[in-house]
Amino acid sequence: MSNQSLTDLDKSKKTDPFPALKVPLNSSPEHSIQKPRILVVDDSISVRLALQEGLVKEGYQVLTAENGKKAIEIIQSALPDFILSDVYMPEMDGLELCATLHRNPLYSHIPFVVMSTEKDAGNMRQMMTYGAAAFIIKPFNIEQLIITLNNKSEQKKSLKEKEILHAQLLQTHKLESVGQLASGIAHEINTPTQFVSSNVSFLEDTFADIQKMVKTLVTANAEKTLTGDVLKQALETADWPFLEKEIPMAIQQSREGLSRVTHLVRAMKEFSHPGGKEAELVDINRLIETTATVARNEWKYSSELQLDLAPDLPKVVCLAGEIGQVFLNLLVNAAHTITEKLGRTPVGNKGLITVTTRVDGSSVLIHFADTGCGIPDFAKAKIFDPFFTTKAVGSGTGQGLAIAYDVVTRKHDGTLTYITAIGEGTTFTVRLPIKIS
Ligand SMILES: Nc1ncnc2c1ncn2[C@@H]1O[C@H](COP(=O)(O)OP(=O)(O)O)[C@@H](O)[C@H]1O
Ligand SMILES: [Mg+2]
Repeated sequence: MSNQSLTDLDKSKKTDPFPALKVPLNSSPEHSIQKPRILVVDDSISVRLALQEGLVKEGYQVLTAENGKKAIEIIQSALPDFILSDVYMPEMDGLELCATLHRNPLYSHIPFVVMSTEKDAGNMRQMMTYGAAAFIIKPFNIEQLIITLNNKSEQKKSLKEKEILHAQLLQTHKLESVGQLASGIAHEINTPTQFVSSNVSFLEDTFADIQKMVKTLVTANAEKTLTGDVLKQALETADWPFLEKEIPMAIQQSREGLSRVTHLVRAMKEFSHPGGKEAELVDINRLIETTATVARNEWKYSSELQLDLAPDLPKVVCLAGEIGQVFLNLLVNAAHTITEKLGRTPVGNKGLITVTTRVDGSSVLIHFADTGCGIPDFAKAKIFDPFFTTKAVGSGTGQGLAIAYDVVTRKHDGTLTYITAIGEGTTFTVRLPIKIS
């Protein structure tokens, strides 16, 4: 392997034509699996040749291009694993190439390594914003380059693994809470359905009584025997005063029951609506109401829920599905800590959960305050860790706050903080930037 500096080579420019690609563009798959493919972009033919020679010896497949424009053509037909690019080149320079690839989701993941000089700080900063993965300062030798490439490929692998793991975690947690909610919602729907159903039976029975009464009266009328007494008797037999009072009540109650079911189903639909992967304008107050409705069975036995929602709260640009999940996690945790303190069905007063929304400058604040146990010192540093739980096996998974933290801070540029007092309760605060220009 040559330790000769590449810039030394630069001085001895040859007049060779643009070198042919060593690797055919449609090389066999076995080849491309075994050997990482690297695209070298440099206007200096000697640099291209030297890099090609050194990298091929190290087991890389090497493609070369003399400027950004040519590089893009090659990338489109033979996706490389790495791009190693010079900065200054005619037609399309490294800066423009880096920016162009960064904008294209098909190519933005390819690590872009820049060969620059120490004087290039301005360009380096610019290229970092375009997603450049690393800089290697000229003059360098092949060993230094290989180390840089290996580092980048390790980083990429572990980043990818982390992302996959995280997506799986979020999915399992979602499924779990859907399962947990589903049984609560089934219960919530069951109660109104039951009284609608018994009201319908009541209406069925009373209709039979009314029918009998009408028949008696119609017959009496046909036989010309319909007197005041007969009418009175028929009304008494059917217990008309009772029916007159009860039937409208049964109808009214059924209406309420049905509207309760409709409300629940609508909330469930809104809550589970994935909302897509794009951020959208979300009415946070409504999302809180929906979350409270779908989670009602979790809190209603142990706690009163007070919603103190700012009427002038602006809509917030966010991922509705994921923020809904955050609210659910915080609300369920609040209900759990109150249950832990008072029992599932407290004998005396219930606990209190208060959800408050406020505008604060260019953010909205959402507070979840509970009158539960508070967070003990030993747990404070760990509550946001994935899988940390103080709950019994089967009732806690330790993922709620880890996911909430990730969704709020990483995906929304917000913050998730808390204050707590042992025996008195805890308030979690979500701060979300509004982001409306
Ligand atoms: N409102 C709260 N009050 C007291 N402790 C809490 C509260 N919210 C979370 N915690 C603590 O943080 C831990 C982690 O919460 P979380 O990540 O939601 O997982 P899980 O609820 O499954 O235990 C809980 O086990 C509990 O010890
Ligand atoms: Mg939880």
